[in-house]
Amino acid sequence: MAGEVTISGAKNAAVAIIPAAILVKGKCVIENVPRIKDVDVLIDMLRSLGATAEFQGETTLVVDATGINKCCAPYEMVRKMRASYYLIGALLGRFLKADVAMPGGCNFGSRPIDQHIKGFEALGAYVSRDAGVIIAEADHLTGTNIYLDVVSVGATINIMLAAVLADGITTIENAAKEPHVVDIANFLNAMGAQVKGAGTDLIRITGVPALRGGTYSIIPDQIEAGTFMVAAAATQGNVLVKNVIPKHMESVSAKLAEIGATVEEYDDSIRVIGSPVIHKANIKTLPYPGFPTDMQPQMVVLLSIAEGTSMVVEGVWDSRFQYVDELERLGANIRVDGKIAVIEGVDHLEGAPVRATDLRGGAGMVLAGLIAQGETTITDLQYIDRGYENMEGKFASLGADIKRIICDD
Ligand code: EPU
Repeated sequence: MAGEVTISGAKNAAVAIIPAAILVKGKCVIENVPRIKDVDVLIDMLRSLGATAEFQGETTLVVDATGINKCCAPYEMVRKMRASYYLIGALLGRFLKADVAMPGGCNFGSRPIDQHIKGFEALGAYVSRDAGVIIAEADHLTGTNIYLDVVSVGATINIMLAAVLADGITTIENAAKEPHVVDIANFLNAMGAQVKGAGTDLIRITGVPALRGGTYSIIPDQIEAGTFMVAAAATQGNVLVKNVIPKHMESVSAKLAEIGATVEEYDDSIRVIGSPVIHKANIKTLPYPGFPTDMQPQMVVLLSIAEGTSMVVEGVWDSRFQYVDELERLGANIRVDGKIAVIEGVDHLEGAPVRATDLRGGAGMVLAGLIAQGETTITDLQYIDRGYENMEGKFASLGADIKRIICDD
């Protein structure tokens, strides 16, 4: 695989920034929005609440939530995606009321939102559950100190959303430090909020009376970039991955260097040159700046053809190895015990029919298909389409033999 690929805007930033626009009375011009299914679903959600949301050109989305007249997001609407929980923080922050069904999304075992609720309650909301619907209401929201018991990206962002218009100062301790947490804070600040400390484990939000419209450009997608970097390493390729922030890629770059790839960093791009021999490696996924859980399946695919035995420990989710059964169909030799996978490197993978079990597992299957000898067909592409923009087109432009087949049934 050789050539250049341009990375799209970050999915996990976009799926929070679009709901965050609910807090703004005025036009938010959001640039570098990835054209993925999760974004389409969120746009539909915002429109059904009474906002306007239109693309201007390919990747600039203009949202005006001034006219929102509903605080209710029913199950039919939210079941398709996890990030719909950001509607709770945003609607509560602006209208002091949110009525949102429990979200769907990829299944990695239990996905509680207790820390989000703890934060809303600390700000003064009364939160109840009724038949799978979260109802949050408040007379007013008042800044306070919130200590997160677990480092949660979603809870950190959701509490920021609920707190930007609250009275006084809110602090979030043990906050998540992911690049997209910083991106949401920067978006809110561009609209007039006062959020400081994002990117550290202590975030301080001084409530402001209102947010106004403005323009903001979403950061590049760390995980899409990592997926192409791993693809280059796994196929002995030479790929320049453009529109990235190399700092966000440090844990992935370091691991790729460890397995023997050459990684060259430039200002806003990274070149990865794969080596014929892939060395074994051990990985534990952790919150940022640790190795990202959302890159775990892609790395396991790479290690499945490494020399020797590697161990991967999933440190974030209870159950994120469902895709391994599919990978074994291609000839990988992996033993999973709970949150640990032991990978005996094999000489090569053989093409076979597999399915995407979830978004990143699906990305792993595409990588596996690219390195396998013979043909691999992957079904359940709806998972991949949730979070990757034109994945097959980008791989094809690097010389991969990959195409999407539309089936009638
Ligand atoms: N957790 C709790 N209580 C909570 C919230 C989280 O116990 O109230 C636990 C979770 O069970 C998990 C850990 O804390 O064990 C981390 O969860 P976190 O809240 O950080 O995850 P999230 O916000 O639901 C986001 C991404 C995921 C990514 C994780 C971890 C979005 C929409 N999703 O999920 O991305 O895996 O952070 O980095 O931002 C993906 O893109 O494929 C994806 C799944």
